[in-house]
Amino acid sequence: MRLDKLLGSQTDLSRKEARQVIKDGLVQVGDTVIRDPGASVDPETETVTVAGTPLVFKEHLYLMLNKPEGYISATEDRTQKTVLDLVPPELFRDGLFPAGRLDADTTGFVLLTDDGVFAHDILSPKHHVEKTYIATLAEPLTEECLEQVRGGIELKDGTVCLPAEVRALSEHEAELKLVEGKYHQVKRMFAAAGNRVVALRRTAVGDVPLDPSLAPGECRELRKEELFILKTRSK
Ligand code: URA
Repeated sequence: MRLDKLLGSQTDLSRKEARQVIKDGLVQVGDTVIRDPGASVDPETETVTVAGTPLVFKEHLYLMLNKPEGYISATEDRTQKTVLDLVPPELFRDGLFPAGRLDADTTGFVLLTDDGVFAHDILSPKHHVEKTYIATLAEPLTEECLEQVRGGIELKDGTVCLPAEVRALSEHEAELKLVEGKYHQVKRMFAAAGNRVVALRRTAVGDVPLDPSLAPGECRELRKEELFILKTRSK
C-alpha cells in the first residue's frame, strides 16, 4: 500500500496532510525515515511510526454511535450536520459511512464503518440481522395494531413489510425488531395501522445493544466480541 494512502486511512490526516507529514521526515518505516509519499509499505509486516508513535494497523474500523436528534445519516451535506460530524478526530478515517440510515429525528445506535462488505451483510434482509427500535406512539397501542405489524403490514403505498417481532412496553411504547430497512419504515408501519410515531430510538443491531454508557453524540469502537457477534450473525 502507498504510504500516504496508509496514513490517510489509518489516521485523522487527510491524504494531503499525510503527504506533507511524510515529506517533513516525520514518518519511519522500521528504522528508516521515508520521505516519499508513494513508497510502498506492507502494514501487516512493517512497523510504521508517525512522529514517534507506532501506527496500529486496522484494515477496517467499526464504530457504535449514539445518534442524537438533528443529524442526518449521510457522509456529507451542504446544510445539515451529518453523523460523521460526531466522530472525534482520533476515531475518524477516510471512507467511514453509516451502515444504514436513521431519520434526522431518530436517535440511538448507528454503526459507522469503512467496510462495505460488512455493511451490506448487516443491512441485507437475507442475512436476518434484526434492528431493534423503541417507538413512542401518539395513540394507545391496540392488540389489533400489534397483530397487523406482526403479520407483515401493508403500507399506505401498497408495499408489504416482512412480518416483524413487536411487543408493547407500555400503553404508548412498542419495541420492534426489523430485518429490513425501508424508508421511514417504522413510522409508515404505525401510520398504516392508524397510529403515529412521535419518537423513535434504535436500541440494538443484531444481538449487540447500544452501550448505555454512551451519551448522545458519543461513539466508540465496537469491541472484538461485539464485532464477532455481528459478523457471525450476518453470514
Ligand atoms: N424507521 C423509521 O421510520 N425511521 C428510522 O429512522 C428508522 C426506521
